[in-house]
Amino acid sequence: MNKRVTTTTIRERKTAGTPITMLTAYDFSMAQMLDGAGIDMLLVGDSLGNVVLGYDSTLPVTMEDIIHHVKAVCRGAQRAMVVADMPFMSYQISPQEALKNAGRLIKEGGAQAVKLEGGKEVADAVRAIVAAGIPVVGHLGLTPQSVHALGGFRVQGKDEAAAQKMLDDARLLAECGAFSLVLECVPSALAKRITAALPIPTIGIGAGCDCDGQVLVTQDLLGMYDGFTPKFVKQYATLHVQAAQAVAAYRDEVSQRAFPAPEHGFMMDDGILEKLY
Ligand code: KIV
Repeated sequence: MNKRVTTTTIRERKTAGTPITMLTAYDFSMAQMLDGAGIDMLLVGDSLGNVVLGYDSTLPVTMEDIIHHVKAVCRGAQRAMVVADMPFMSYQISPQEALKNAGRLIKEGGAQAVKLEGGKEVADAVRAIVAAGIPVVGHLGLTPQSVHALGGFRVQGKDEAAAQKMLDDARLLAECGAFSLVLECVPSALAKRITAALPIPTIGIGAGCDCDGQVLVTQDLLGMYDGFTPKFVKQYATLHVQAAQAVAAYRDEVSQRAFPAPEHGFMMDDGILEKLY
C-alpha cells in the first residue's frame, strides 16, 4: 500500500514544484476510484449540498451531513488525505465552537484535515483548531457560504482594495498555521502573486495554472450533468451521455425480457423442483 499523503507531503510539493491534485468525493466508491487513480487530496466539500443533496446553495448543509459522507469517503481512501469541509455556521459563532466541530470531523468522521472559508474574520478559529493539532486548509476568493454577502457567484479580487485584502488574508491564514489554501474564482495573475508570497501551497479552482495545485468538483470533471458548467471547469468526460444511454438500454431490455439473460441467473437441480408440491 502507498504511504498516506500528509501535511508534510503537501508542504514539500510546494518546495519541489510538484503540483498537488485535489478532487471532491462524497461516497465510498468514488473515493476508492479517485484514491486508486493517485489523487493526493479528497475534499468532502460542502458542495455536497448542491451535488448530492440537491440544494441550490451550500448553506443548508449540516455537520451531520458532512460527518456521514466523510465516514464513507474515509472507508474508500487508503492513500489520499481526506479533508472535511466545515459547513456554514459550524465555525463562525466562536473559536471554541469551531474547535469542537473541527474535532468532530476528525474524531467521528475520520478526516485528516478540515477546510473553512474566510480570512481575518476566521483567524481566531483557525488558530484554535491548529493549536489542537488539527490541520487546516483555508479558502479565499469566491467563498460560497458568503454568497449573499458577495452578491452572487462571481470572480473575486478584481480591484486593488479587494486584491490587497485577499493577499493580506492569505498571509494571515498562513501565519495562523493553515497548511494550504484554496483560491476559488480569483484572477490568474492575483493567484500567481499570492502563491509566490506564501510559504504554504495554494490550490486553485478557477485561479489559473500558477497555483501549487488544482481542485475541481469531480462531477464537473466527469461531465455528469447536462446543464450549466462554470467557465473554469474542464470536462474530461461526458458521463451523463453514456449513463443516459445505458439506462435507456436497460429500460428497453427489461421491457422486452432481454435482460436478465440465462447467464445472469442461478442454476439448481431439476430434481428439486419435481419434488415440490
Ligand atoms: O465544497 C467544495 O467543493 C469546495 C471546492 C469547490 C473547493 O469548497
